[in-house]
Amino acid sequence: CKDLANIYFEIKDLKQKKDSLILSHNYLYPEFHEISDNIGDSLGLSLFVKEKKCKRVDFQGVFFMGSTSKIIVGNEKRLFVPDKPENLGCSLVDSIDTTYIKNWKEKYDGVVISYVNSDIYTKSLSDYICTSRNADKVIINAIKKFKGKKVLILPDKNLGKVMKARAIDSLKEEGTDVDPNIIEVYEQEKAYCHVHEKISLDYILSLIDKYKESDLLIHPECSCSFKLYEMTKKDKELKKKLFIVSTEQMVSSAKSSSAKSFIVGTEKGMVYRLRKEVPEKEFLPIDFAQCEYMKENTLEKLLESLKSDRYEIFISDTEEVEFREDGIYLPRKVAEKARVAIERMLEIK
Ligand code: 13P
Ligand code: SF4
Repeated sequence: CKDLANIYFEIKDLKQKKDSLILSHNYLYPEFHEISDNIGDSLGLSLFVKEKKCKRVDFQGVFFMGSTSKIIVGNEKRLFVPDKPENLGCSLVDSIDTTYIKNWKEKYDGVVISYVNSDIYTKSLSDYICTSRNADKVIINAIKKFKGKKVLILPDKNLGKVMKARAIDSLKEEGTDVDPNIIEVYEQEKAYCHVHEKISLDYILSLIDKYKESDLLIHPECSCSFKLYEMTKKDKELKKKLFIVSTEQMVSSAKSSSAKSFIVGTEKGMVYRLRKEVPEKEFLPIDFAQCEYMKENTLEKLLESLKSDRYEIFISDTEEVEFREDGIYLPRKVAEKARVAIERMLEIK
């Protein structure tokens, strides 16, 4: 399409002139693959932004991802998101009650691990941030470092349950028995991603039955993830074909498996990345799994952002997060606390 081609070349030109690094999440439309410096999962994009030199970052994804990257790069690099924060939302971010966290900390003096899908206030109340790629490792690190303290993982109850089980099993393998009551999963109302919650156990079992030769790539946010993980303890065949992994790990799992086809249990945009990286294999998307916030990202908006410098994120001396005409202002004191929790995660190998 001529328009798309024009937009593409204009973006390329402005990207070079403004020395912009374009980062895109794995769920975006396929045209982002051609224009981005990096496509990845939440952890991969955070690591990439930390390493690379540039004047500005154009972060294509949802708002919590852009603000996490801004907290990492600080005021050293300008960072832009393509749309208003409310259009780049996330149901997990909305599910968090910060009063619950404050009360919990007061009651237990425990360790709070927040999933990266959280706002800056939640992050500032947390001891660690984690992502779908490292949540089990972060739990293990917290248990070892803060011996005897209670640990709270939030907000995603599905990811929380499966990562808690994995952490306990890994520690057991090392010879350390952990009382499961020491890890609390935040099981509040709506503590899930509305896209992954719909990927149920019954539905996945029906696909396993239908596509017997296919392996399964399942995001830990899916409502089936914990039950599937528990089933693998008895079902060796299922264990061989099941990967409960972050979006980035879906790529490496697809490469390493001998299977020729895969059921992709996450947002359906993920299949573009998989098909590009592993063209010799087949990927079956779940058609109803679409995140409307991720789909707000378009090349038109990216171009507008590069042209007009709109929706910049600033770290400033404001008291609260402020949405102004010229951008989004994150309060420095809150951002600093959030950065400590993010850095603690980034140090865990
Ligand atoms: P990943 O970090 O696995 O890409 O997950 C991010 C996300 O929002 C999943 O819905
Ligand atoms: Fe948030 Fe779910 Fe969208 Fe991921 S898929 S950004 S968790 S709403």
